[in-house]
Amino acid sequence: MKEKDKKLTISKIKEGTVIDHISSGKALLVLKILGIGSKTKETVSMAMNVPSKKMGRKDIVKVEGKFINKEELNRIALIAPKATINLIRDYRVDKKFKVHLPRIVEGILKCPNKSCISNCSKEPVISRFYVNLHENKVIAKCYYCSKKITEIDKYLTG
Ligand code: CTP
Ligand code: ZN
Repeated sequence: MKEKDKKLTISKIKEGTVIDHISSGKALLVLKILGIGSKTKETVSMAMNVPSKKMGRKDIVKVEGKFINKEELNRIALIAPKATINLIRDYRVDKKFKVHLPRIVEGILKCPNKSCISNCSKEPVISRFYVNLHENKVIAKCYYCSKKITEIDKYLTG
């Protein structure tokens, strides 16, 4: 078999959003953060643990036919700070940018404090966290009760 025939790469897309340089093993969490799952209609392809010159190993997610907005994409920085976003139009990379850690995230983290108003109010209260970097680690602090989260993966609600 020829070398090129042995290689399986995910196809280029015509139009949509490519999230590249995701920390390896985090692709599924990226989908969760973007709210992509069994009920969404977009064609999604991904690769996990592919070799990368810059990162050793990385994950990639491609969402076809959808230009995800910047604010939503920046949430990815919570779990994959080195992610690169490529907006593809007519098979070309039209825009490329890096994700930026948002100062505040709403509705995607669940406060671990059971008596926090975001968990026990009768009226729905959207969770809200301040986000900071401390020694290169992401720390989120609840806007309502000041509870800090360091294990972000564990408290993602999607
Ligand atoms: N891509 C895609 N469909 C296209 C064009 C690009 O899926 N029509 C994907 C590529 O597979 C790659 C990413 O978008 O994962 C970025 O493409 P490109 O900028 O061409 O690749 P690199 O130069 O390797 O990117 P970087 O410099 O960001 O590492
Ligand atoms: Zn709280």
